[in-house]
Amino acid sequence: MSIANYDHDLAFETEVTRRGAYVTRPHDHPEAIPIYLTTAFNVEDTDELLARYDKKGFCYNRSDNPNRVALGETMTYLEKGEFSIICSSGMAAISTALITNLKAGDHIVSDHTLYGESLEVFSDILEKFGVTYTCVDITNLDEVRAAMQPNTRVVYTESASNPTCRVADIAGLAEIAHANNALLIVDNTFLTPYGCNPLVLGADIVVHSLTKFGNGHFDAVCGSITGTTDMIMKCRHMYQLLGCTADAFSCYMTQRGLRTLALRMEKAMANAEKLAAALEKNPHVAKVNHPSLVSHAQHEVAKKQFNGHYGAMMSILVKEDNMTKLNTFMRNLNLVHYAMTLGGLRTTYQHPASSSHHGIPKEERLKMGVPDTMIRISVGIENPDDIIADFTNALSKAYD
Ligand SMILES: Cc1ncc(COP(=O)(O)O)c(C=O)c1O
Repeated sequence: MSIANYDHDLAFETEVTRRGAYVTRPHDHPEAIPIYLTTAFNVEDTDELLARYDKKGFCYNRSDNPNRVALGETMTYLEKGEFSIICSSGMAAISTALITNLKAGDHIVSDHTLYGESLEVFSDILEKFGVTYTCVDITNLDEVRAAMQPNTRVVYTESASNPTCRVADIAGLAEIAHANNALLIVDNTFLTPYGCNPLVLGADIVVHSLTKFGNGHFDAVCGSITGTTDMIMKCRHMYQLLGCTADAFSCYMTQRGLRTLALRMEKAMANAEKLAAALEKNPHVAKVNHPSLVSHAQHEVAKKQFNGHYGAMMSILVKEDNMTKLNTFMRNLNLVHYAMTLGGLRTTYQHPASSSHHGIPKEERLKMGVPDTMIRISVGIENPDDIIADFTNALSKAYD
């Protein structure tokens, strides 16, 4: 008897648990990949199970799921790696990549203005297990070199830092890391593979929060790790043990979002350049952090490594340090909304001092270049004139 054809002459309450469990008519190659919402895949016997292992077929969801594998293949292509795994969030990807490659006694060199929760992986997880870290200005290669220790096994950076948009020289960091027998791990969430390919520049592992530009529609959470097959197979073992594999539905939504990555990023990055140029001229804005601007300290590095683009993320510092006026500015933005995320097709903003950097003592936060006057902006794909007008009007209403 086949698992698809049992004897159909059983009691109602038995039949109801089984009828229609398999699609028996031909259904290969649907135009859109189905969502495999199943925890397991049945086999006839141990022969079939062993054959399935051989063919890398599917058995249990946490080990492998078709939607996860399909999205992994897309990410491998986009990041020009050999293999990828898809985790349940960007943080799951970051934690898995670090935990896989570090052990007690190892040391990390990183940037002092990373995404806050990435820093917390160092301080609140890895330190507990005997891993130490040093944070430097990662854009200063001399500082990075000086911070390297004989036990430094990982150099960790973001392709553009959150929220200051500083740009690390990835090729320079790779050289320093490799000379010390360390790995370079790059979080490429801000630039996306459309704007930057860290592996091509010499990084060993690239991680993403695909929750952001990868998905692009504010409706799924997941993350990716890409690198050589050897490296990612080690991470794969770890993420299966940690249980932070992405669910099929999020993978499906993210892959659907990635199909339009080129279109979305081309438009969003072009919009960001226009918005950055307009805001830099605004009398109420003290500083605009966007790598497209000649005034940006790492403009030349960005030009060299960002495939002719500069990302759709920026931050601005308003001139007046006055929270009441800042709130008036926020309330007067009509199109652009406050969102505790980024990378969607609508322009959104966030106030780092009261959200992502809320837990950091003010003195430390100021050293990171994150004052109360900073607004982080994620630029979307709207008409740029509408976005510019929204910011300009709101600034005038609050500060004129
Ligand atoms: C640069 C960067 N990396 C990682 C993350 C974490 O991503 P997730 O929320 O998908 O875990 C974020 C979240 O904002 C981020 O901005």
